[in-house]
Amino acid sequence: MDLFEKILKNRGPIGQHAKDSHGYFTFPKLEGDIGTRMIFRGKERLIWSLNNYLGLANHPEVRKVDGEASAKYGLGLPMGARMMSGNSNQHEQLENELAAFENKEDAILLNYGYQGMVSAIDCLVDRHDVIVYDSESHACIIDGVRLHMGKRFVYPHNDIANCEKQLERATRIIEETGGSILLITEGVFGMSGDQGKLKEIVALKERFTFRLFVDDAHGFGTMGKTGAGTGEEQNVQDGIDIYFGTFAKSMALIGGFIASTENVVEYLRYNMRSQIFAKSLPMPLVIGALKRLELLRTQPELKNNLWKIVNALQSGLKNAGFDIGKTQSPVTPVYLNGTIGEATNLIYDLRENYDIFCSMVVYPVVPKGIIILRLIPTASHTVEDVNYTIEAFRKSYVKLKAGEYASEKIATF
Ligand SMILES: Cc1ncc(COP(=O)(O)O)c(C=O)c1O
Repeated sequence: MDLFEKILKNRGPIGQHAKDSHGYFTFPKLEGDIGTRMIFRGKERLIWSLNNYLGLANHPEVRKVDGEASAKYGLGLPMGARMMSGNSNQHEQLENELAAFENKEDAILLNYGYQGMVSAIDCLVDRHDVIVYDSESHACIIDGVRLHMGKRFVYPHNDIANCEKQLERATRIIEETGGSILLITEGVFGMSGDQGKLKEIVALKERFTFRLFVDDAHGFGTMGKTGAGTGEEQNVQDGIDIYFGTFAKSMALIGGFIASTENVVEYLRYNMRSQIFAKSLPMPLVIGALKRLELLRTQPELKNNLWKIVNALQSGLKNAGFDIGKTQSPVTPVYLNGTIGEATNLIYDLRENYDIFCSMVVYPVVPKGIIILRLIPTASHTVEDVNYTIEAFRKSYVKLKAGEYASEKIATF
């Protein structure tokens, strides 16, 4: 079959709905200044779907530095990959500050979180090694594992007894191959919001020889006393051998980093294909990240405000009878039962009649019949925003139960 014909026939699990959903349920356009109020289809809405945990995206000091750095350097500098011609004092300063913040010896910048994770996994292991990883891992971990030429064993999400079994299997294999074991988990799982069981995993090091790689995209800046992440939160930061953070969430920017020992970071610097063979982070992003990190470190009220809103939202939803699953982080999923048609009618009602904009997650990301409304609280939301939203959710839940959203088809808009 011709490749294009095949693509025409099978549009993919989400793509099959593109004609009915594009521009509203998928690829919506949020316009205006980044914040809790943005314009969607010409009208102001209350936004609960931006990874802007600390509210830094539109912080005046951040905007000032972003603007000044862009004016001074443009977006082109540095020209080239770090190894060849794209290094700078600012890149190295940011790496040093990130390493110190994470209490690690050194750090390496990544020009995108996703490709950085994929490439780091690829670079750390060879065909003699075994990867053990959590079944609910983010796509970037799955893609990294896909590149791996050796064995990989997956354990059911946060199932430590099973993880132990996989470590036993992995140990038997490396005894034959002479390889090593890399265990990968998330710090905070981005969909359900629960934390990886880092404490239990670190404790397994007493019985097994492995290195722990934690993707803490959602934990960096939000978890732990200083915001250093889920390792700090669970008091096992030293047990994390390789720590990944993205700039795309708490820092409201682009890019990411990996922090580890001096030796491991040097190895990554000289072997990670996504960094050796790609242009380095533009100067304004590096200078913007330095500013954001400074604010994250010196203004604990940002994280305190975030958690005030998180607690109000999560306890309010629970008190109103909603199922928010096992979240232990700002990520707030609301689990409902219904079809894709019902989910779209519900979202449409929330957007058009209550001016509330949140994301929905449906099959195939979650099993058929489950709808997740995913809320991302930020330091910029208010308790009034929370109360208003819970009341609107309560009303739409009554309609859902009464079958008012029932439909075989995606809502028209
Ligand atoms: C758990 C996790 N890892 C990695 C990434 C990728 O980060 P970035 O957006 O910086 O590419 C994300 C972003 O969605 C994420 O949620």
